[in-house]
Amino acid sequence: MFKQKAADDTTVEIKLDEERIPKHVAIIMDGNGRWAQKKLLPRVAGHKQGMEVVKEITKTASDLGVKVLTLYAFSTENWKRPASEVNFLMDLPVKFFDKFVPELIEKNVKVNVMGYTDQLPASTRKAVDDAIAQTSQNTGMILNFALNYGSRAEIISGIQTLATEVLENKLKPDEIDEKTLDRVLMTQQVAPYNDPDLLIRTSGEERISNFLLWQIAYSELIFTDVLWPDYKPVNLLADIAKYQARDRRYGGIKETKKESTDK
Ligand code: FPP
Repeated sequence: MFKQKAADDTTVEIKLDEERIPKHVAIIMDGNGRWAQKKLLPRVAGHKQGMEVVKEITKTASDLGVKVLTLYAFSTENWKRPASEVNFLMDLPVKFFDKFVPELIEKNVKVNVMGYTDQLPASTRKAVDDAIAQTSQNTGMILNFALNYGSRAEIISGIQTLATEVLENKLKPDEIDEKTLDRVLMTQQVAPYNDPDLLIRTSGEERISNFLLWQIAYSELIFTDVLWPDYKPVNLLADIAKYQARDRRYGGIKETKKESTDK
């Protein structure tokens, strides 16, 4: 049982099965711009509040026993935004890690970043590299930022790696299976929890936007109307409760209870 304060300050109780907490939760944090617009603020104010929400959700996920929390912070397509917004987004990891690393260490959280990080500004890369180094000994939840990440590019890079291995006679084409592809994708960095159990997208949009296309084959998907800057720990608990109410079958059929023969 988890008790949380709701937005209206009342306390809500959410029953979760502690044995079935999703091991890997991935979140498409959407709606920052709309949140700001609604408050007549510049779009970047939404990103700033979104960063505060990242802190709270990280702590909650870690307390729940989630093993990997993957957050889509910047896509390979986000470079198309106005330069001022891109610059703000690129500066967020600097601000975030500057203040939050001690708390991450206290919570035993390890930082990982997956994406084409060589294309990030030097200051962003340094902030990320420092956070990774400072938390490298931590053994708890992995906070995995997808930064300059795109799933199709990731799959193409992976296939290029495998093609090179074939050319170098290290791999035969008929040896390529799901495990082989898993090995060359960026989520290998969070093995053995490569695939999310639960993918959440905020803000009411119902699409995947080039995020973990291979890895979400059997993930439970939850689309919530809450805008990311309004997303609270109680929302995460409610979404995990929804996840637990679902019946994951992986293409099989539900195990039925053996009928009792006692009459
Ligand atoms: C999508 O909302 C959000 C993003 C592109 C950026 C997400 C980044 C954060 C939440 C902060 C991340 C924090 C760290 C520490 C890196 P949108 O701008 O597309 O919103 P809209 O659809 O309402 O316009």
